[in-house]
Amino acid sequence: EKAGFDHFMLKEIHEQPKAYRDTMMGRIGADGKSVTLSKEIGMTTEQIRGISRVHIVACGTAFHAGLVGKTVIESLARIPVETDVASEYRYRSPIITPDTLVIVVSQSGETADTLAALREAKRNGARVLAITNVVGSSVARDADDVITTWAGPEIAVASTKAYSSQLIAFYLLGLYLAQERGTIEQAQVAEIVEAMHRLPDQVESILEQAELYKGVAEAVSKHDNLFFIGRGLDFAVAQEGSLKLKEISYIHSEAYAAGELKHGTLALIEDGIPVIALVTQEDLYEKTLSNIKEVKARGAHVLGIANAGYEDEVAKSVDETFSIPRTLPLLTPALSVVPLQLLSYHASLARGNDVDKPRNLAKSVTVE
Ligand code: BG6
Repeated sequence: EKAGFDHFMLKEIHEQPKAYRDTMMGRIGADGKSVTLSKEIGMTTEQIRGISRVHIVACGTAFHAGLVGKTVIESLARIPVETDVASEYRYRSPIITPDTLVIVVSQSGETADTLAALREAKRNGARVLAITNVVGSSVARDADDVITTWAGPEIAVASTKAYSSQLIAFYLLGLYLAQERGTIEQAQVAEIVEAMHRLPDQVESILEQAELYKGVAEAVSKHDNLFFIGRGLDFAVAQEGSLKLKEISYIHSEAYAAGELKHGTLALIEDGIPVIALVTQEDLYEKTLSNIKEVKARGAHVLGIANAGYEDEVAKSVDETFSIPRTLPLLTPALSVVPLQLLSYHASLARGNDVDKPRNLAKSVTVE
């Protein structure tokens, strides 16, 4: 059932190209220039134009997908978005109005915190859209609209393909909302859609080099503390990378907005500490590189994840560089998370842990 892989997690990491294709299937117009979610979303164009704010609510890894979702929806559809952890959202009396669209994201569709937030949103008259991997789950049943991620069953407790398929769902949703609201040109939709179609093969090419991450993971596994840094979408992915590592390797790590390090945490950078730096956002290259220099100057061992074409520049500032295929900046999370998944997987193995069933965690938590 593990299809020749040692663990479900590794199998699921390798299923991502298929999960991307399946999640896109039937949702992109035959002309390749438009996105169709009218089967999933029952809102009229008028209703979509009337949305004044979006709240994205989720837990754990799904919350991290929601951080990317915020940037996607804001930049394409120009609607203000807040992303919250479900257990916080529920109790902070959020401002929910009838023209608020609440998006709940849940792989299992059974997480109690997320379900409670969904119900709170509905009580306040909001429309609720679910992004879930399980057809007929509680979240899917209670939501007004559902976008199913077609990642297939995810067995490993640490989420991989479900997270990255949630990203694909957000790209589709952002494009659809933007089309309906008239905030995007058809040519831009076509450009993004074309780049999305290339993602599965690009993930495949990262997976072909999966062994690259073994050695570095073994080195990382000897440390008790490390940092992930990045700016913009790289920071969102850094948070997911950090969680993944903590979940299964039990190594303490912190994800930091690269520009924020100098406002406190730089004190923790000492000789030899590994820092994993994501440098994929073109507009932020220079700024991130200057933050990398700050940690290098304090003795950090920096592993850089950079876009193909820019890796030589990054290599000048870091100790080891890993390159990922080039895509549009908005889409890079769907690629840059893959090396981080592989790194966590190998670090967990190197520490002799049970990769698929980490201690103290459950696949789906049905208590608040
Ligand atoms: C946690 C799981 O309990 O729930 C995480 O251990 C998961 O892996 C989180 O990301 C949210 O789960 P779901 O099913 O709502 O996406």
